[in-house]
Order: sequence, then structure tokens, then C-alpha cells
Amino acid sequence: MTALKNDRFLRALLKQPVDVTPVWMMRQAGRYLPEYRASRAKAGDFMSLCMNPAFACEVTMQPLDRYPQLDAAILFSDILTIPDAMGQGLYFESGEGPRFKKVVSTLADIEALPIPDPQKDLGYVMDAVSTIRRELNGRVPLIGFAGSPWTLATYMVEGGSSKDYRKTKTMLYDNPQALHLLLDKLAQTVTSYLNGQIMAGAQAVQIFDSWGGSLSAAAYQEFSLAYMRKIVSGLIREHEGRKVPVILFTKNGGLWLESIADAGADALGLDWTCDIGSARERVGSKVALQGNMDPTVLYAKPEAIRAEVGRILASYGKGSGHVFNLGHGITPEVDPEHAGAFLRAVHELSAQYHE
Ligand code: CP3
Repeated sequence: MTALKNDRFLRALLKQPVDVTPVWMMRQAGRYLPEYRASRAKAGDFMSLCMNPAFACEVTMQPLDRYPQLDAAILFSDILTIPDAMGQGLYFESGEGPRFKKVVSTLADIEALPIPDPQKDLGYVMDAVSTIRRELNGRVPLIGFAGSPWTLATYMVEGGSSKDYRKTKTMLYDNPQALHLLLDKLAQTVTSYLNGQIMAGAQAVQIFDSWGGSLSAAAYQEFSLAYMRKIVSGLIREHEGRKVPVILFTKNGGLWLESIADAGADALGLDWTCDIGSARERVGSKVALQGNMDPTVLYAKPEAIRAEVGRILASYGKGSGHVFNLGHGITPEVDPEHAGAFLRAVHELSAQYHE
């Protein structure tokens, strides 16, 4: 494998010295880019982009080609590939988000769910990872990812996106054994899926616990964090002679940072509701931090974006251990010029915080 030309993302996750703060954006390949919309039209739909390694590679590279400041690439795929591989029949209704043909409602439904084999059942994702690694040719590291068991379970039980997770939470309180069985199957699947991505060439992995923050403090520990801890303990942590850092991102998990920092990962993703300087004090030297600009700041003019970047960098302060990112995914309405101004500001304004 070619040596990495830019490894500041991996170095910052391990709190090793860097020249400037590394940056990438959640959902950096997506609808705000006209070139992405063109590729999607050519492929037909979103899932065809994900399932064809050449298309997945093409759209992964688009933000990197447009923005030379990006310090990492992220596999183009979706967290819902796992429920699809379990037989739920994922599809996207235009403008309505993800949907499933089959919903999981009872213990019997959960008992019947197969545990997918990443090579056999999700081989298209493994192929996308190795194709992208080849195309990157050492430019920047490649991030692999999966959803957390809790977040995946909400989609599987609700049958799609949800505002209040009514069915999943009813199961949590009425039938916790059933939900635990589902979460356990998902934790096994996520572990082997992420290990498959690492073996195929992913150089860091992120677990998206997008809806963990909807739980009570007690339920978060038992139904989300416990399963992420289990996954982390089963991951391959070194490959090709380098550490493979693990990032845990619980959106709205700011109240629980101390316990998330104890789960065994290298870094925590932060949404914009917490102050990154206080978060740094709370987690100490245990983990690096990734985040945390409110993605809506990108609607504002470039000078305002730059000021907000400066504020977050100053709040984190001197030294390594910070990967700049948005606090959640970039939205389709953002002007690509504003995303460029954001990325440039991170590198320009952060040099002063590193020796
Ligand atoms: O970050 C990246 O650039 C990598 C690609 C990526 C996608 N989805 C592509 C995508 C990643 C990391 C995800 C993760 C994902 N998918 C999450 C966790 C992250 C988060 O945002 O909290 C979740 C909850 C999903 C499930 C999902 N996929 C939803 C709810 C939707 C519809 C929402 C929307 O924006 O329409 C998707 C579709 C999806 N996944 C798109 C993209 C680029 C939009 C599809 C399109 O082109 O229309």
C-alpha cells in the first residue's frame, strides 16, 4: 500500500502533534454538490450509487477534488445497508427519506433476523472501500462507518425515520428482552461489518449514534452505550502497521461525555450544543474530540463562518486532539462556496494553535 501523503487526521485522533487542525465534513459527499446530483441522476437513484463501487468511489472523490483542504475521505454508503442485508428491503421514497418493506415488531420477528456476513451479504460495501483506497492512492485517510445498534434499531422498528421513536421506545419499556436481542444481533453485525471495512482498507472508523440523544440517561447507558462499548472491544485496532482510530458520535450526547469517553474509543464526535473547551476539560486526556460547528452556520456569509471557526478553535485551545467537523451532516441547501470558505478558515486560523 502507498504511504499516506497527509495523515494529520489520523495523528489528531491519536493526539499526536499536527501542523494545522485537520478537517472533514459529515455528509461531505451529498446533494449540496451539483456534481453529486449529476452522478445520482446518472446512476438512477441513491441506492444504485451505494451498490456500485465505481459510482460510490466517484462521489466519495468529488468533495476531495473540489476542496483540497479536506483531510479525510469517508466511504460513500449508508448506515441502513445493515437492515437491508438482514432482509428488511430498504428503499427511498423521493423526498420522504428511508423506508423498509418489512418492519420488525415482535420477538419472533427479531429471532428470525439473520446475522449478515459482510463479505457475502455486504460485499458491495467492501468492494467500494477497496476501490476508493486504490483511487485515493495515499492522498488522505479513508473513514469507514456504521450506525450504532440503537440508531439502526429505531429505523428497523419504526420502518423509517421517526420524530419520537414511539414504537422502539414502547418496545424498550414493555419488552426490553426483545430489544436487547435485536441490539445484540446488531452489535455482532456492526462489529464484523466494520472489521470487514478495516480489512478492505478503511483507516479509521466512526459509529453514528444519531438518535442516542433521544434516550433517558439510564436508557442511553443500557440500550445504546453498552452495545457501542461491546463493538469497540471487538474491533481490529491496528492494520497495515498503523493504529485504526475509532470515533463514537452520539448526537445530543453532551450530557454523558465522561461515560462515552470511557467506552474504549479514541475520539468522540460532538454536536454543536456543547462547548468544545468544556468538553475537553471533562474528557481530559482520554480521547480526542471531533466537531462541532452548527451546520446552519454554513448558510451565513463567509466572514461569519470564519468568525465561528475562530471561536471554536479558540475554545478548544492549543495542542493536538481536535478534528474540526460540523456537529451533524452538511445540508443540501448549503452553497458549495460557503463550505470552501469554512474549510479554508480551519487551516488558516488553526496554525497558531500548533507548535
Ligand atoms: O458522510 C458522507 O459523505 C458519507 C455518506 C453517508 C450517507 N449517509 C449518505 C447519504 C453517511 C455517513 C450516512 C450516514 C447516515 N445515514 C446516518 C447517520 C448520520 C446522520 O446523519 O445522523 C443516518 C441516520 C442515515 C439514514 C439516512 N440516509 C437518512 C435519514 C437519509 C435521508 C435523509 C436525507 O438527507 O434525505 C439517508 C439518505 C442519504 N444518505 C443521502 C446521502 C448522501 C441522501 C440521499 C440522496 O441523494 O437523496
